[in-house]
Amino acid sequence: MTDKIDELLRRVEAFRPKAAAELEEFRVRVLGRKGELNALMEEFKRVAPEYKRELGQRINGLKTAATERINALKEQLQQSCADEGLAIGDMTRPGTAEGIGSRHPISLVRNQIVGIFSRLGYTVADGPEIEDDWHVFSALNFPPEHPARDMQDTFFIMRNPDVLLRTHTSSIQVRTMERQRPPIRVICPGRVFRNEAISARAHCIFHQVEGLFIDEGVSFADLKQSILYFAKELFGEQATIRLRPSYFPFTEPSAEVDVSCNLCGGKGCNVCKGTGWLEIMGCGMVDPNVLEANGIDPKRYSGFAFGMGVERIAMLKYGVRDLRLYFENDVRFLHQFDAAL
Ligand code: DAH
Repeated sequence: MTDKIDELLRRVEAFRPKAAAELEEFRVRVLGRKGELNALMEEFKRVAPEYKRELGQRINGLKTAATERINALKEQLQQSCADEGLAIGDMTRPGTAEGIGSRHPISLVRNQIVGIFSRLGYTVADGPEIEDDWHVFSALNFPPEHPARDMQDTFFIMRNPDVLLRTHTSSIQVRTMERQRPPIRVICPGRVFRNEAISARAHCIFHQVEGLFIDEGVSFADLKQSILYFAKELFGEQATIRLRPSYFPFTEPSAEVDVSCNLCGGKGCNVCKGTGWLEIMGCGMVDPNVLEANGIDPKRYSGFAFGMGVERIAMLKYGVRDLRLYFENDVRFLHQFDAAL
């Protein structure tokens, strides 16, 4: 009987099934109710008592070994089937979708603004973020004692009053006038920097888009009509604008532009603070001093300029309540813009 046990044990150890069905057949033949192991058990009952102890241990050992081996083979087969499936691939299965990223709302709105003015014939102009006093202030008619030149508002580099981070994209106006002669029609998107405490409504880094149009005979009516066209393109055909007199050193006259609140349709809500109007940009006729400082004859040429904050426009367009959301990169916020173009 010892031989029979050893022989079965060798067969169990040598068994290499090619398929699950073959393994199952083997399992039934060895461990099944009418299998070889049970046949040995039957035989065991008739063994003389003095051999029972040793043979019993051997049979138990065989049973454990066979059960473990068959389970291990089963697992191996399942694994190799899975690997094969992976290698060949089920061509009918739907593909695993990769998470698609979305454009950042600031890029979206900047592209929309630039797109609208491109259609009016404006080309994109650029300039450096690290600037000097001339391009950010002096050439734009800022008086020497203007508060924007203060350390409180402007980031100076190495405390050098002539190396600073631009506080507005109006500096690109100056860069453009240096490079180009009229007619000039440029749109200038860019990042700007101001020494401000970060809150829901302010940040030390934000984005602006500046526009500049200089030619012979450019009038305030041209400015107004261009901005009205822009507002309707961005906020919808029903949008209207109003201009409020304002002051900027580089424009005269200057105005602040409000657009009718697109959230309440002008009736008044908490976003427009009950007024029905939302402030969207500053604008005006380029001050003759600015033209002169940049070598353009103000007697022959006139022009208009405008500047807007991209974060602010995006807030108004998408109802974003806190500016800090733009900089936190929380995908739960960003994914809401997946569908926007
Ligand atoms: N540079 C201004 C600012 O930072 C925005 C601005 C206002 C730009 C009026 C202009 C303009 O070109 O005409 O707030």
